[in-house]
Amino acid sequence: MTGQNDTDVHGLDTDIGTMNEEQARAELARLAVHLQQADIAYHAADAPIMTDADYDALRRRNAAIEARFPALVRPDSPSRKIGAAPADAFGKIRHARRMLSLSNAFNDGDVADFVTGIRRFLGVAADFPLDFTAEPKIDGLSLSLRYEHGTLVYAATRGDGEIGEDVTTNARTITDIPQMLDDTRAILEVRGEVYMAHADFTALNTRQAQDRAKTFANPRNAAAGSLRQLDPEVTRSRPLRFFAYAWGLVSEPLATTQSDAVAKLAALGFPTNPLFRCCRTVEEMLETYEGIARQRASLGYDIDGVVYKLDDLELQARLGLRSTTPRWAIAHKFPAEHAWTELVGIDIQVGRTGALSPVARLKPVTVGGVVVSNATLHNEDYIAGRDSRGDLIRDGRDIRIGDWVEIYRAGDVIPKIRDIDLARRPAEAQPYIFPDTCPECGSPAIREPGDSVRRCTGGMICPAQAVERLKHFVSRSAFDIEGLGAKQVEAFWRDGWINSPREIFTLRQRFGPGQPKQLKNREGWGEKSAAKLFEAIDDKRRIPLARLIFALGIRHVGETSAMMLATHYATWEGFRHAMHEAADPDSLQYSELISIDGVGPVMARSLLTAFQAEGAEIDALASTLVVIPAEERSSDSPVAGKTVVFTGSLERMTRAEAKARAEELGAKVAGSVSAKTDLLVAGPGAGSKAKKAAELGVEVIDENGWLSLIGVS
Ligand code: IVH
Repeated sequence: MTGQNDTDVHGLDTDIGTMNEEQARAELARLAVHLQQADIAYHAADAPIMTDADYDALRRRNAAIEARFPALVRPDSPSRKIGAAPADAFGKIRHARRMLSLSNAFNDGDVADFVTGIRRFLGVAADFPLDFTAEPKIDGLSLSLRYEHGTLVYAATRGDGEIGEDVTTNARTITDIPQMLDDTRAILEVRGEVYMAHADFTALNTRQAQDRAKTFANPRNAAAGSLRQLDPEVTRSRPLRFFAYAWGLVSEPLATTQSDAVAKLAALGFPTNPLFRCCRTVEEMLETYEGIARQRASLGYDIDGVVYKLDDLELQARLGLRSTTPRWAIAHKFPAEHAWTELVGIDIQVGRTGALSPVARLKPVTVGGVVVSNATLHNEDYIAGRDSRGDLIRDGRDIRIGDWVEIYRAGDVIPKIRDIDLARRPAEAQPYIFPDTCPECGSPAIREPGDSVRRCTGGMICPAQAVERLKHFVSRSAFDIEGLGAKQVEAFWRDGWINSPREIFTLRQRFGPGQPKQLKNREGWGEKSAAKLFEAIDDKRRIPLARLIFALGIRHVGETSAMMLATHYATWEGFRHAMHEAADPDSLQYSELISIDGVGPVMARSLLTAFQAEGAEIDALASTLVVIPAEERSSDSPVAGKTVVFTGSLERMTRAEAKARAEELGAKVAGSVSAKTDLLVAGPGAGSKAKKAAELGVEVIDENGWLSLIGVS
C-alpha cells in the first residue's frame, strides 16, 4: 500500500459524462495496465500496491467508461478478468440463539443514559441497586462453540447473526478452546472472541513476508483470515487465542448473574478476561473504563472499548432485545484514533439511490494501525463547513484539495475528516465546487429542499445506480445468492446479461444449457460453476418477505424497517396491496403505514414513490418468486397476531417493558383504540380509551389479567 498509484487514482478527474472517445481510449489503456499491475502485486507477489477501496474505485471507473463507450472495451480489459464463482468453502450453521451485536456509548453521558434507560425500562428508582459488569471489548471475531454432553460438536462464526460459517475443524486447532468439558449439560453454547496477540501477529507477518505470502493489516484481520482457512493445518500454525464472555443456548442455566456465569465458564476451563470487574455505580463503571484504557497499550492484544452488562440475568431477560442488540449491554468505545495527512483529491461516487457522495483521496497515512487513503466527506455542506441546518462546522472552515486534514476512525467505521489546518493551506487552493451533474451519466444532480444530499436524476439510465442496486439486491442481507456477488453481478450487468433484478431469475433460460450463448463458456466459468449458479439462483426463488422488501433497495428502508414492515403485513400480497392503497394520504392504509413502529412519513413517502414509479417492475419480479410470509414471532403465544393497546398506569412493569414483551410474543402494540384493536389492557386511571373500547366492544383486561394471559405469575 504505497502511494505509488495514488496519483493515478486521484488524477481521475475527467468527467465521464463529457469525455471524448480519444480520452476514453487513453484512460482505458492506462487502467488496464494499472489494474493488471495491481492484480499481479496482490495475487502473485502478495504485496498490494493500492488499497482495496482504490482498486475497487479504479475498476468502477473502468466499468463506467466502458458502459459509455462499449466499442472501446479492450480485449485485455480488467472487466473481462472476473475470477470463478467462489467455492462454497464453509458449511452454514443456523445459531440456536442469535449472535448479537452491541450498541455503542462514546462518552460518559452515553453510559449514564444507558443506566438511566435501564432504570426507566424496568421502572425502578434511582436508588434501586443495579450491578453491572465491565470488561474489555476484544477486537477479534466472535465465535460460538456448541458442546453437547461436554463434547465440542461444532464451532460457528457470527455470520449475519442468524447463520454463521462452520469452522469446527479450524476451531479444534485452537489450544484455548477445550474439546471436552467436565459438564453434563445436554447443550452448552459458549461464546467469545477469537483474537491474535500482538507478538504473534508481528511474528506471523514477518514469516509471511519471508515466504512472500500475504501479510495482514492488523491482528483482527490476521485472526479472521487464519480462522477462515480451508486447510485446518494452516489454522493450526497460526497462534489464535480465545476469551469466553457469553453463551447461547444452554439446556440448564449457568448461574443467576453474568459474573457467576463467566466464573463458571472459567471453572470449566475457558480463558476469561482477567480485567473483568463488577461495578455498583456509573462512577465505578467509568473508573473501570479509565483503568482499562490505561492498561490498553500493555495488554499485548487489541481491545477497542469496554463492555458493560447488567449483572442480574433475570433483569437481562426482562429487558430483552432490540432488533440486533440487547438492552442490557453496551460497548463504551475508546476515542477514535487520528492522524494528519494531505487531501490530494475529491472523487464523487454515485450510490444506489443516486446520492452523490464525495470521497476524500488522501496521501496514505496510518491511523490506529490501518493505512487509510480514502475518507468520507459526507456531502457538499460538510465540505463547505456547514451542517444540514446551515450552522457552521469547523468554525466555517471549508475543505479544499491540497489541504492538510485530520483523519479519524473509530472501530470499523469509514475514516472521517475532523478538521483542517488553515496554516498549511496552499496559496492556490480553491474552494471545491460540487458538481451539479452526475459524474457517471451526466444527468442533472439536484438537491431537494430539506435534503442534505444531491442526487442524480438519471434513475436506471444511470449506470452507477443500476449496478449499485443490483449489487444491493444480491448482497448478504438481501438475496445472498451463492456465487453471485458484487463482482459477478457487475460483470453480467456490463455485458448486458442482467439489467434488472428480475433478469437474474431468467439467466438460466437465456444462458443455460442449449442456448446459443452459455454461461459455462464465459471466461472464469465452467460447466460445474454455471450449473451451480443456476441452482443457487433457483434456491433463492423462495425468499422471506423481509429480505425481499429490503432487497428492493428503497431509500430509507433498511434491514430493520424491512423486518418491521414484513412483520406488520405478514404476506407479500398484504404488503403490496397496502402500498397501492396507501398512495392516497387520506386512506386508512396510509395512517396504518405511518403508525408502524419505525415507519414515519419520510419512509412512507419513499416507499410509495418507489411503488408508484416501479410497481410494474416489482410485480414482475415478485411473480417469479415464492415469498415466504413473515413468521409470527411466537405463534403459540395467545397474543400472537393480536393488536393490543395499553392505557392507564401499570404497576408491575413499565409501559416500555409491557410493549417490548407484547411485541416479543408476536402482538402488535397500537397507541389508540380502533375497530382493529383486539385487547385493551387498562390500569388505574384509564380514561377515554377504556370508554372507546367499551363502545366498540373490544375486550378489556387489567394488568394482572394481561400477565396471566402471557404466562407471568
Ligand atoms: S458481549 C450480547 N462482550 O463485540 C452480547 N462482546 O460489537 C454479545 N466483543 O459481536 C456480545 N468483546 O464479537 C461481548 N467482552 C465482550 C466482547 C464482545 C468483544 C465483540 C463481539 C460482538 C461485538 C459487538
